Amino acid sequence: MTELGVQTTVVAANPAVLEGMEVPVGFSHESVVVRSGQRTGLPIIVAVHSTALGLAVGGCRVWEYERWEDGLRDALRLSEGMTRKCAAAGLPNGGGKTVVVVPTGRTLTADERHAALHDVGDLVEEFGGRYVTGPDAGTGPADMVAIGERTEHVFCRPEGTGGSGDPSPFTAMGVVAALRSTCQALSGSSALAGKRFAVIGTGHVGEQIARQLSEAGADLILSDVNPARRSLADELGAEFAEPDIAATAEVDVLVPAALGGLLTRDLVPRLQCAAVAGAANNQLAEPSVAGLLRERDILWAPDYIANAGGVINAVAREILGEEPETAVKRIESIFDTLTDIFAAAARTNVTTSAAADELAQIRLAAQL
Ligand code: PHE
Repeated sequence: MTELGVQTTVVAANPAVLEGMEVPVGFSHESVVVRSGQRTGLPIIVAVHSTALGLAVGGCRVWEYERWEDGLRDALRLSEGMTRKCAAAGLPNGGGKTVVVVPTGRTLTADERHAALHDVGDLVEEFGGRYVTGPDAGTGPADMVAIGERTEHVFCRPEGTGGSGDPSPFTAMGVVAALRSTCQALSGSSALAGKRFAVIGTGHVGEQIARQLSEAGADLILSDVNPARRSLADELGAEFAEPDIAATAEVDVLVPAALGGLLTRDLVPRLQCAAVAGAANNQLAEPSVAGLLRERDILWAPDYIANAGGVINAVAREILGEEPETAVKRIESIFDTLTDIFAAAARTNVTTSAAADELAQIRLAAQL
């Protein structure tokens, strides 16, 4: 394949590079590299937010963006979220993230995709093991094999090839533990049977959550931007609705399982659920939405607590060398972590978001 671009590297450890961009709270990242991929010319971004607790972990997103700056903004937010996710989950790790910026409307050929993953592998390798990548939106275990052709610092290769495999069943397992904890906080019983859930997004993780809820005897509304996903609803005997209809349906728990930003200032006043708990990252379109949810007495399970199962499994198996059963126990402890957060929020009169951040901060400070 031809090389499309001259390699340029912008090391944005200098906050001046980010001037004029809406970076959330100043520049708190250890290191951010933005590079035109040597093979593809595509912008490749690795953001390492923190290695205070140990090496940074976080998946590789191959996604379409209008502008590379949008990809950078995603990498910055998501890597910071991974620091909190790992700390709150009790993992000895910090947060990072990789983004491959695919221009909107462009479909990569198989060769281009493979080349982009090699570009990622080279950049991850330059971090010398301070950062380990893995799957995220737009990538899966097969892509980790491609990245692994250029670096050892990659999680979740298929099981036969030395990795811990697809993390999505473990993310789903953790979300279901979070849903039980949420139901317990709402009704005093962690049972899922007979409760009503709206699952927004039936991709890798959303489908597995829906199946587990269905098996547990829950009542379901499913939704996906892809209308063909109605087939899953038919198979499970669930309703299928447009995303906006499903998100505002009268249910016990709304389960965001698509991309982030579902909970906007516009949506929250229209919600008819008692709680929100799901797999999506960055569910709050802006931080103040946490307060709006609390004012409406809607219980929110902080996203990075509920969706930590995938990274917990990868770290437990591939870094800590634990057996599958031990990793599963760690994932199931999401139930207790969330129960503690709900209790702390109620006791101290703060949002569940603030209570989760506080827990992450305490663990970060304690292990420094
Ligand atoms: N994509 C996962 C998340 O957002 C991160 C992950 C990284 C999962 C490494 C598995 C392995 O939590």
